[in-house]
Amino acid sequence: MRGKSVLLIIGGGIAAYKSLELVRRLAERGVTTRAILTKAGAEFVTPLSVSAFTGEKIYSDLFSLTDEAQMGHIQLSRSADLVVVAPATADLMAKMANGLAGDLASTALLATDKPVLMAPAMNVRMWQSASVRRNRETLAKDGVLFVGPGNGEMACGEYGPGRMAEPLEIVAAIEQTLAVQGPLAGLRALVTAGPTREPVDPVRFLANHSSGKQGYAIADALARAGAETTLISGPVSLAAPQGVKLQRVTTAREMLAACEAALPADVLVMAAAVADWRPDFAANSKIKKSTDRVVPLIKLVENPDILATLSAHAARPKLVVGFAAETDDVVANAVAKRGRKGADWIIANDVSGDVMGGDRNRVHLVSEAGVEDWPEMTKNEVGARLAARIAQKLKGAA
Ligand code: C5P
Repeated sequence: MRGKSVLLIIGGGIAAYKSLELVRRLAERGVTTRAILTKAGAEFVTPLSVSAFTGEKIYSDLFSLTDEAQMGHIQLSRSADLVVVAPATADLMAKMANGLAGDLASTALLATDKPVLMAPAMNVRMWQSASVRRNRETLAKDGVLFVGPGNGEMACGEYGPGRMAEPLEIVAAIEQTLAVQGPLAGLRALVTAGPTREPVDPVRFLANHSSGKQGYAIADALARAGAETTLISGPVSLAAPQGVKLQRVTTAREMLAACEAALPADVLVMAAAVADWRPDFAANSKIKKSTDRVVPLIKLVENPDILATLSAHAARPKLVVGFAAETDDVVANAVAKRGRKGADWIIANDVSGDVMGGDRNRVHLVSEAGVEDWPEMTKNEVGARLAARIAQKLKGAA
């Protein structure tokens, strides 16, 4: 978020004091804030205190000629990467939903060409009233984003939804909204993660130790960088990363079908540990232990190679990234794999230690340009670094 800027509209509500903390939290993250304080907002926080936090002058009056001379209200509405309304009162929501523009705040909301994020704060009954609900729906349809309100006890003594989201929640929502405009904005990413399970009978299966952590971290990083991200995951116990479309599958063949259905994509990252083989048939009922102690033989057949199939697909993603989990000759095997599978890049990792299931990873990026050895880092850091490299490759972004 560093280097981004927010136009913060502070409406008239007791929660206005939390907006000062919001400004401070944003500043900690390198985000600059300009603030518009409505007349009602100024009943709760003073222009002086807001400007002490933003380090900028406060804009509060539509008809101030001095302000207009320095920065016109239209320009002000477009000066930031994002407009945040906190607290968003019923009044501000109603004005924006109906296109009213009688003061600086509502004019800026009408004139802006940037995304608008509202953090509503009001009494429970007001929040639940038919007109506020209607206005919220209209605003959501118009593309306005919302964070909160939360449940809790309110200044007026009532309990229920209406409390403004906490500053850190608003920061998280801002982070997510700004990411939509990140270096991968406008691109589609397809990521696979986790093991596949190949059934033997209804209660038994063949699988591996993949935890899915690396693939989930990559999907998370790509979504944060603004890519529209689909994650196709084998059975793991991880929650979907925010803003990622998650589809769960069980077998390799299901994973292939789900990937094909998710195309087209600009980038494919195959981090899943797909089972190379499956039992040639899965029994419909549980295989019983026989009385004469004959051990059943499981015959294996080859699974489709998803990476190779998608690399040769008519709708091949522009950038295809495979993984190579190896225990020996890690890099040499990865270089060979890159050619064999038709992938552009291979991320090779040595899984002889506790990489599977662990939080750290040491990888090598094998590309057309050679082999890059990355130092050991967390799986989240591998995800972020890979997302940055993908942005560089696809968009020429730094
Ligand atoms: O051949 P190997 O399994 O080592 O290749 C690993 C790479 O190939 C990974 O990216 C994995 O997701 C992918 N793969 C696949 N389909 C398979 C086996 C592996 O897409 N059946």
